[in-house]
Amino acid sequence: MSTQVLLTPYHKNLDLKNRVVMAPMTRSRATNDGNIPTEDLHVPYYKQRASAGLIITEGSQVSKQAVGYVSTAGIHTKEQVDGWKKVTKEVHDKGGKIFIQLWHVGRMSHPDFHNGNLPVAPSALNPNAQSYTPEGFKDTVTPKAMSIDEIKQTVDDFKNAAKNAVEAGFDGVEIHSSNGYLFHQFFNGTSNHRTDEYGGTIENRTRFFFEVLEAIKEVIPQEKIGARFNPSLDGMFGITMDEETIPTFEYIIKKLNDYNLAYIHLSEPFTEVSDIPYAVQNIAEHFRPLYNGTLMINAGFDQESGNKVIEEGNADLVAYGKLYISNPDLVERFANGYELADWDDDTFYSGGKEGYLDYPTYNQQPEHA
Ligand SMILES: Cc1cc2nc3c(=O)[nH]c(=O)nc-3n(C[C@H](O)[C@H](O)[C@H](O)COP(=O)(O)O)c2cc1C
Repeated sequence: MSTQVLLTPYHKNLDLKNRVVMAPMTRSRATNDGNIPTEDLHVPYYKQRASAGLIITEGSQVSKQAVGYVSTAGIHTKEQVDGWKKVTKEVHDKGGKIFIQLWHVGRMSHPDFHNGNLPVAPSALNPNAQSYTPEGFKDTVTPKAMSIDEIKQTVDDFKNAAKNAVEAGFDGVEIHSSNGYLFHQFFNGTSNHRTDEYGGTIENRTRFFFEVLEAIKEVIPQEKIGARFNPSLDGMFGITMDEETIPTFEYIIKKLNDYNLAYIHLSEPFTEVSDIPYAVQNIAEHFRPLYNGTLMINAGFDQESGNKVIEEGNADLVAYGKLYISNPDLVERFANGYELADWDDDTFYSGGKEGYLDYPTYNQQPEHA
């Protein structure tokens, strides 16, 4: 069991004790006015999971405008930085590594978060999805198309957030350019109808992402920057694939070879896509040959398939989401072949300790003590 490749160290740019990554997951526990990560909740939650090779935090808004879900933590105020400092310290004291995921939801937000003002997006096109507001799920609205000044301001917001992340003691940052949020809205032809230098061609639709990457690079070495993509996302978060979708991601990922990033983080399709003519079904297999750096893969992996995807040479690291909610000691369970605990969807975003801090490790369960 102990020879499984998932449990071997990884040293390219990162210095990881194993290849098991905790995927970024919004848990809506920053239930205070300032959206500050707290000592009671966030600190013990991440500390419990510090045996992961790498933790990627929940998506954390880079500005007030960036928010789109209730009680998500931010990384744009001093109080938030101070809150995160306690998290990074505890994780580091336990020998762990932790990146923060930098997030802007764009049109997935709702006027309820902005004193009645519209959320922003590349174009004024309603995703026809649902936004998780303080009053529960509400239909999304038609957003405001960003002006050039607003785009530049958002680039600055990401840069500032990355600077804050360094101050808060994070080992790096992950750009959340995935799952139908702001960057994905720029990439996708059905959500981006701009006619200026941020719309039309693939180069134009990816410009905002590369501007943000360049800006972040000024405040944190590129070896500490990761970026997340979900190329075959379709029918979720307002995204519909078209014939240019996969070529767009191929362009981005090939261009990222010119950088020396910590990693790219790809998701296998979230839904069945065999009927979607434009979709790629095996993301790791498709994109691995295009990228020379570290490739992290996610979505639907277990211990066996995680070891396999690395052994087959299609990924270097594997990120686990839901399994990490219910198994804080996922690495130890993989190492010892222990059974895995199930997660409870009802407490994903429910606030408080329940379903957050109360999943025991295998050895904490009375029957195994
Ligand atoms: C409760 C929950 C919250 C999530 N929040 C985020 C997030 O903030 N950022 C992100 O990139 N993905 C988010 N995801 C997606 C996960 O990172 C991951 O892609 C997904 O759970 C599939 O991986 P899994 O099959 O290992 O769970 C979330 C998933 C869940 C279940």
